[in-house]
Amino acid sequence: MTKKIALVTGGSRGLGKDMALKIAARGLDVILTYQSNENLAHETVEEIKKTGGRAAVLHLDMNNFNSLDMFVASFKSVIKSEFGAQSFDYLVHNAGMGKTVPFAEVSEALFDEFMNVHYKGVFFLTQKLVTVMNDGGGIINISSGTTRFANPGYSVYASMKGAIETLTKYFAKELGSKGIRANVIAPGPIETDFNNGAIRNNPQLKGILSNMSPLGRVGNAEDIGGVVAFLCTDDSRWINGQRIEVSGGINV
Ligand SMILES: NC(=O)c1ccc[n+]([C@@H]2O[C@H](COP(=O)([O-])OP(=O)(O)OC[C@H]3O[C@@H](n4cnc5c(N)ncnc54)[C@H](OP(=O)(O)O)[C@@H]3O)[C@@H](O)[C@H]2O)c1
Repeated sequence: MTKKIALVTGGSRGLGKDMALKIAARGLDVILTYQSNENLAHETVEEIKKTGGRAAVLHLDMNNFNSLDMFVASFKSVIKSEFGAQSFDYLVHNAGMGKTVPFAEVSEALFDEFMNVHYKGVFFLTQKLVTVMNDGGGIINISSGTTRFANPGYSVYASMKGAIETLTKYFAKELGSKGIRANVIAPGPIETDFNNGAIRNNPQLKGILSNMSPLGRVGNAEDIGGVVAFLCTDDSRWINGQRIEVSGGINV
């Protein structure tokens, strides 16, 4: 039976893993990607399979622009071989990395890497995949609270995330005629491996951020996946072109 299919980039760990699990729990088939942690990606697939879901893994490096066409070819082949499908429904752009670098010290190489992964890759991978997206599907771009409040050392990261927030509005406008919705989820600080575990491994920073939150803690990966999964259902069919911050109300 052909079910709805979601592609979650960066589903090997952190937020993407939770998104993949929660989307599968809603009954969708899932393709998740990894960049270097193939084993973790397969563990996520096994977790999904244990609960009766279907999932498969693909390699994706958003920093290697020339590899995107090959990724799209593999994606089409895998949805056919694994799920008997020729098209898919939901595209979740989650893959990404963080680094704290003061503005004055940002190199061109770092700028280019962040641009490729967080913006250029999102732009062109969507352009390449939208041809095989079903009418009525959706795009969910993962941004960050740091586009609303400035965090020193995040000038490159946050400005790329700002770019995909703008891009999301254009997806919503230009793909609406295909019935495709596009929205942004902007998580606040979450303790994952992100930015070398900057929040998780630094009790002082974690304490400061927790005190800034009305709910008195930083986020966990499990705070995000369910919201993304909701956007991968018809229950959210009238939400379009929106930035939804999922941050526990930090800096509200
Ligand atoms: N954690 C936070 O505080 C926070 C807050 C706001 C927004 N976000 C955003 O949420 C998303 C996920 O963050 P996270 O906290 O889950 O990070 P994470 O735990 O470090 O996981 C990052 C994921 O992205 C993949 N990835 C990294 N570089 C990649 C590349 N060049 N090409 C393709 N995939 C790549 C990783 O694959 P491998 O496992 O194979 O390396 C992994 O699956 C990112 O877009 C991040 O900007 C995070």
